[in-house]
Amino acid sequence: MKNDFLWGGALAAHQCEGAWNLNGKGISIADVIAVGSKDKDRTIDKDILPNKYYPSHNAIDFYHTYKEDIKLFKEMGFTALRVSIAWTRIFPNGDEIVPNELGLRFYDDLFNELHLNGIEPIVTIMHNDMPLSLTKKYNGFSNRKVVDEFVKFSKTVFQRYKDQVTYWITINEINNMLIFDYPQLQYVSAGINDSKDINVIYEALHNQFIASALVVIEGHKINPNFKIGCMSSFEPRYASNCDPNEVMNALKSYEDQYFCLDVMCRGSYPNYIFKKFEKEAVKFNISLEDKEILKKGTVDYIAFSYYKSKTCSLSNQTSNPFINRSDWGWYIDPIGLRIALNSLYNRYQLPLFIVECGLGAVDQKEADNKIHDLYRIDYLQQHIDNMQLAITEDGVDVIGFLSWGPIDLVSASTGEMKKRYGFIYVDLDDMGLGSNQRYRKDSFYWYQSLISESKRDSNGK
Ligand code: BG6
Repeated sequence: MKNDFLWGGALAAHQCEGAWNLNGKGISIADVIAVGSKDKDRTIDKDILPNKYYPSHNAIDFYHTYKEDIKLFKEMGFTALRVSIAWTRIFPNGDEIVPNELGLRFYDDLFNELHLNGIEPIVTIMHNDMPLSLTKKYNGFSNRKVVDEFVKFSKTVFQRYKDQVTYWITINEINNMLIFDYPQLQYVSAGINDSKDINVIYEALHNQFIASALVVIEGHKINPNFKIGCMSSFEPRYASNCDPNEVMNALKSYEDQYFCLDVMCRGSYPNYIFKKFEKEAVKFNISLEDKEILKKGTVDYIAFSYYKSKTCSLSNQTSNPFINRSDWGWYIDPIGLRIALNSLYNRYQLPLFIVECGLGAVDQKEADNKIHDLYRIDYLQQHIDNMQLAITEDGVDVIGFLSWGPIDLVSASTGEMKKRYGFIYVDLDDMGLGSNQRYRKDSFYWYQSLISESKRDSNGK
């Protein structure tokens, strides 16, 4: 492992900060998504409704507890923490001219605190929390006006934090909106309200590519040392058997994993997507000017999340007998991470950053306040072992490993607290009730010793 390898964890503002309406913050998409559960989808409301519980409003109150929480991250030996900037703290409705100084100050303090503790901030500009007002006025990224607003927001934070932040991520899991059977994703990723029109969906995705590319271009003007990455979720796709028809089917299914990365890393649309547009009668033209922007705004590295793999089958038989599932039905597939690293590196030859990986599980806090989360240790150890093989055996260039939710936080898909990822237990239930106290789980001590051994090994080399 290189001695500048970054070890740490990843958070998103709306899942941890709380303080949803403090110090000038506006309402974001995330603030109108109510709590759900494994079996009950979260509802998306047009506005905040009385008597409904919205988990982002208080979350784990990181806005007020970040200093103590960072102490715990430091105790584990973190050298990096991924956080996101809540757009609505800086521009409450998205289209103001002057940013909210109190919002900017919060992130000054947060990034300072991280540096004081020897932790590098890795900053996502938009993590599923567009200002609600932009979704209402413009139907989110389907309107080019929102590109301008996103670029303005990004330039504002680049200028402000140019000496505190090196690693930036433009848009979280940009490819998720291609999972068309889950409409919530188009809303949370791109702010599109109720669109069933595939043309609008591709337009909004295209506008996000343009927004992200412009931000890469502008960012490098502000500080040429910035490293600006895209962010995609990545699931290896397996054929259910070795029938070449099945293999071909699995190969085609990879396209929704690669499409966004192809555009953002290579700077142009891949041929297969035009074939898909033809088949699905998508009307879509890219202007010469946009082509130029995409070419100039390619990213410096690829950030990606890895949780699971997917098995594809022409007969819809998608279970995989070789791997187990988590409490929430996600396949647990550590070798899939090595496959992902190899697939991405061999395709793009860009440094890779694992900015999310982890196990959402139900934890039991014992009477003595201990939490014996051996399943989480096992999950992460196996994933990290496979990452190490990708580095040492396969020659993949990996910047770092950030575990998702190093402290328990609100689940994005269900809004629950009981889907816990943390090394640190937060005493809150799904309705936000509890002491909000922090407790070290067994995995806390395991991660601490893993990081310290890794640092020792790389310093000895
Ligand atoms: C990723 C998101 O999709 O997965 C995170 O970037 C999210 O915001 C994480 O929390 C885990 O998903 P969930 O639904 O278990 O919270």
